[in-house]
Amino acid sequence: MASSVQHPWLLLLLVLLSAVAPATARTPVFDDNYVPTWGADGYHLRSGAGFCSKSTYGSGFFRMRMKVPGGYTPGVVTAFFLMSVPPQSSDRDEVDFEFLGNVDGQPITLQTNVFVNGHGNREQRLKLWIFVDDVPIRVLRNLTGRVPEYEFPAKRMGIWASLWNGSDWATDRGRIKIDWNRAPFTAGYQGFNVDACANTSSTPCHSTDWWWNARRYRRLSARQRAAYENVKKTYMYYDYCADKDRFKNTTMPVECSHTTT
Ligand SMILES: *[C@@H]1O[C@H](CO)[C@@H](O)[C@H](O)[C@H]1NC(C)=O
Ligand SMILES: *[C@@H]1O[C@H](CO)[C@@H](O)[C@H](O)[C@H]1NC(C)=O
Ligand SMILES: *[C@@H]1O[C@H](CO)[C@@H](O)[C@H](O)[C@H]1NC(C)=O
Ligand SMILES: *[C@@H]1O[C@H](CO)[C@@H](O)[C@H](O)[C@H]1NC(C)=O
Repeated sequence: MASSVQHPWLLLLLVLLSAVAPATARTPVFDDNYVPTWGADGYHLRSGAGFCSKSTYGSGFFRMRMKVPGGYTPGVVTAFFLMSVPPQSSDRDEVDFEFLGNVDGQPITLQTNVFVNGHGNREQRLKLWIFVDDVPIRVLRNLTGRVPEYEFPAKRMGIWASLWNGSDWATDRGRIKIDWNRAPFTAGYQGFNVDACANTSSTPCHSTDWWWNARRYRRLSARQRAAYENVKKTYMYYDYCADKDRFKNTTMPVECSHTTT
């Protein structure tokens, strides 16, 4: 741990990879849509680091190519998430993807979480397999209008990314912490174009003129539903809706008693 005190700024390194722009259609670079939030040093962000979008969005198709740190990475959290403004407010909406590091040879965990009007405690955790593309790994049913006062997502959100120290919770309930002697831990992010309805847009964000609002993106196909059930059965090892002990003293989030259709 002494080394972390001496060189905390060298430890978590987040690298933003800019694609080489083709001559015709210019690929958006980091500065077009994003700004560093903390740990910034030009294009290397250190000692825990993050960035967020310049705009907020009312709808969209959000994607990012991420390379998580390799090797011995317990306690290291690499995140991509949507969060309403102001950030961290007590009534925020949030959608989280967090890659939790692990010891050598053990699979990293992908944890997803959702905050509805400030209320989180909706974690799911799964081990990743090799080909993940096009398989739904988290489904949250739209209960707006079905459950009173349950509106989600109700707020415009920004796009956020960060690499941070999750030693007290991320790996084996915090029992295995970051080994700073293995630093630096480097995450790469690529693809800074944004397909989303920004707050500067004149077209309403719920308009079906936006391609991602088409019907076929609003519900899962039978094939996708089957694929999701297989993910739950085979790879998901924690689901808040199944954790009765956790919600012994409080109410389990309402969506747990609505099956996904
Ligand atoms: C859009 O959202 C960003 C981030 O919250 C804010 O800084 C900007 O002023 C907003 N722009 C408009 C036109 O509302
Ligand atoms: C969610 O359901 C409400 C009420 O039916 C509807 O107005 C809204 O468009 C739906 N949202 C999405 C993203 O489909
Ligand atoms: C990392 O997090 C742990 C647990 O919260 C804390 O004890 C430790 O001081 C942190 N290390 C650094 C370098 O920030
Ligand atoms: C529930 O309340 C009891 C008694 O106050 C406490 O001992 C226990 O830790 C609580 N359980 C949870 C999951 O918060």
